[in-house]
Amino acid sequence: MARVLSGVQSTGVLHLGNYLGAFRNWVSYQEHDDAYFFIADLHAMTAEYEASSLARSTFDVALDLLAAGLDPSRCTIFVQSHVPEHSRLAWLVECTVSYGELTRMTQFKDKGAENEGVRAGLFTYPALMAADILLYDADRVPVGDDQRQHLELTRDAANRFNHRYGEVFVVPEAAVPLFAARVMDLQVPTRKMSKSVSSPLGTVQMLDPPEEIERKVRKAVTDTGTEVRYDPATKPGVSNLLELLAAATGGDPGALADGFGDYGSLKKAVAEALVEMLAPVRGRAEELRRDPGHITRVLEEGAEKARAVAGPTLDRAMRAAGLLAPPGGFAG
Ligand code: TYM
Repeated sequence: MARVLSGVQSTGVLHLGNYLGAFRNWVSYQEHDDAYFFIADLHAMTAEYEASSLARSTFDVALDLLAAGLDPSRCTIFVQSHVPEHSRLAWLVECTVSYGELTRMTQFKDKGAENEGVRAGLFTYPALMAADILLYDADRVPVGDDQRQHLELTRDAANRFNHRYGEVFVVPEAAVPLFAARVMDLQVPTRKMSKSVSSPLGTVQMLDPPEEIERKVRKAVTDTGTEVRYDPATKPGVSNLLELLAAATGGDPGALADGFGDYGSLKKAVAEALVEMLAPVRGRAEELRRDPGHITRVLEEGAEKARAVAGPTLDRAMRAAGLLAPPGGFAG
């Protein structure tokens, strides 16, 4: 049984990119593997955020993960800040990776390298993310394409630490889906669909009602010409729609293109497939909203199970790095 771990930030409303790039695969991993999924609330603090709504967002993301199909009897679901080992191991990772490596992270470059006032936490974010993963001896980390570089840094950090201090960490691998690993904004198909960039018409939310999904897909920006062809370089809009269809129906985007004579019929098929795929998620979300106590219990049990794994790893790493252990060890 492989150990699988992944996380999602608790900022903004979850969208189709999160679902297809990540959550849907998380759901399949829980069937066969020892899986841990968490809500990265500490990561949400690396950019400006509303303190009065962070707790609510974290809770809502937990609800959305259960709605997406995570089953707490098959996997462990928890909140990052409830497991203090994450921030403690992050320090060891910060003392393992270099300043140069962190400056080369594209997400940092895109979001704030130019800005003196940017939070230091945004800069060290990848070290915390590496700690998130290494604490659980994760073999596989199912993520979308945008997280590949962070996973590479995590592997480098694990290898370097092991080399310096002895074998402590499992070196993890990214598991990125074949299609829809980078779902693009429906209005600006050269930009990825994102929680942080406001593009209401270009972002299909995971819990959008069917009419909204249909409207957004109908208005999706397509490319010049009329031919339906899979070619992300010259036809980004159409190719994005074909990838969505492929991901939702299980086909291949290139082969699917042959079945459509014009953009209108493609959009209709995409909207139908997305509505059908997301209907059960919406249904479960509605049920879950009626029992908030259930979510609280899931997170409480999840944190306990997570700490049982994270504590011993932290202890191992602190000792290997040469710190003087307190009488009861570093965990707890
Ligand atoms: P986050 O919260 O931005 O996104 C959660 C997951 O959704 C995927 N994703 C996408 N996939 C396809 N197309 C898109 N447009 C799209 N947008 C987002 C992301 O790749 C991700 O898998 N740093 C992480 C959270 C994190 C984490 C971790 C993940 C913190 N610690 C440890 C794995 C392991 C993030 O910001 O994801």
